[in-house]
Amino acid sequence: MLSVAARSRTAISVASSRSFLSTWSAVPQGPPDAILGVTDAFKKDNDPRKMNLGVGAYRDDNGKPFVLSSVRKADKIILEKGLDKEYAGITGLPDFTKAAGELAYGEDSAPIKENRLAITQSISGTGALRIGAAFLSKWYPHAKKIFLPNPTWGNHIPIFGDSGMQVEKYRYFDKSTNGLDFGGMIDDLKNAPKNSVVLLHACAHNPTGVDPTQEQWDEIAQVVKEREHFSFFDMAYQGFASGDCTRDAYALRKFVDGNHPVVLSQSFAKNMGLYGERVGAFSVVCGDAEEKARVDSQVKILIRPMYSNPPINGARLVSTVLNTPELKQEWLGEVKTMADRIIDMRHKLRNHLENDFGSKVHWSHITDQIGMFCYTGLKPEQVDKLRDDWHVYLTRDGRISIAGISSHNVKYLAEAIHNVTK
Ligand SMILES: Cc1ncc(COP(=O)(O)O)c(C=O)c1O
Repeated sequence: MLSVAARSRTAISVASSRSFLSTWSAVPQGPPDAILGVTDAFKKDNDPRKMNLGVGAYRDDNGKPFVLSSVRKADKIILEKGLDKEYAGITGLPDFTKAAGELAYGEDSAPIKENRLAITQSISGTGALRIGAAFLSKWYPHAKKIFLPNPTWGNHIPIFGDSGMQVEKYRYFDKSTNGLDFGGMIDDLKNAPKNSVVLLHACAHNPTGVDPTQEQWDEIAQVVKEREHFSFFDMAYQGFASGDCTRDAYALRKFVDGNHPVVLSQSFAKNMGLYGERVGAFSVVCGDAEEKARVDSQVKILIRPMYSNPPINGARLVSTVLNTPELKQEWLGEVKTMADRIIDMRHKLRNHLENDFGSKVHWSHITDQIGMFCYTGLKPEQVDKLRDDWHVYLTRDGRISIAGISSHNVKYLAEAIHNVTK
């Protein structure tokens, strides 16, 4: 039996917890994240044949997360050094940012040789995009709008929207061919107001897996130059498209060589398998070293109230890999291995569909597309059937992460896709 005093104490605490809850009574339930929602549903499925093709994370041929051998070695080196855990500077670890810039732009590129690349470490690619959006909103006079490809990575829209930019689309994907709508893209870039900010996926476009050819990039560069647009490159998959980090940087380097005004977001989540380490970089190509110093100072002023300074572990790993010649060599080989496995899965999936199951649907885009994702052309109802009848999980736009397929289940997936599309 509670005493009067204890009862009144309980009543007060219930009342105060109620009044606390009622503060948020008008907050509506938000929708689940499209991609993470797929993973949640996948986890609840107990069927042994289940496949998660929703999330964009590399898996080995046994469907397991993959820690790169070069990264494991770097981890050991760092541990043996017994380093302290002091704060990094606002723009991160200089050995990391230097190596990241060189990887993207090339060691001999003009902005690096002339000391006019302002670069900061970031909370992976997402954080880099967010810093870039804030920097452009504050300092680029024509940043009211940004033109994104249609479709684009879903998170681009709130990243730029939340920074106060109005999001516009340019044509990119042609549903009739499951390829690039090059004519539409060029027209839309020509028709965008002069000096527009244009977001370009540097390689391995997400979600479509459709990249322009080098010749098409040359033409895009020409139109962007004529219209004096400002290019925001998002390079979340350097090395993942072709297996070659230099080849995948073609578009970025072409624009920089042509003296385009450019900013860049980089991520080491995919190409170094450092998803949860959250390591990336944001950079601004400046006119000269003095301008770089001014831009750098403003980037610091933006970052300081956001998160003060970035985490150190991921940057130490990337820096150790890129700055140790043998590890860098090993890593370049591992990137190629990951890209090659993805390319192999594309061929196997198409081959099973066409030759084992005799699918009459056109599947050439599976092997024409590049990088981690394939935009299959599956309709939302077909995606639902794959989930309900075959335990195969993907986003309702029909995007599959090829990296989630293995030689053990590729035939099963082909059978499932054939069944829902025949
Ligand atoms: C196009 C694109 N940009 C940026 C990112 C950012 O990824 P992260 O923040 O994990 O580096 C992703 C991740 O999926 C992406 O696909």
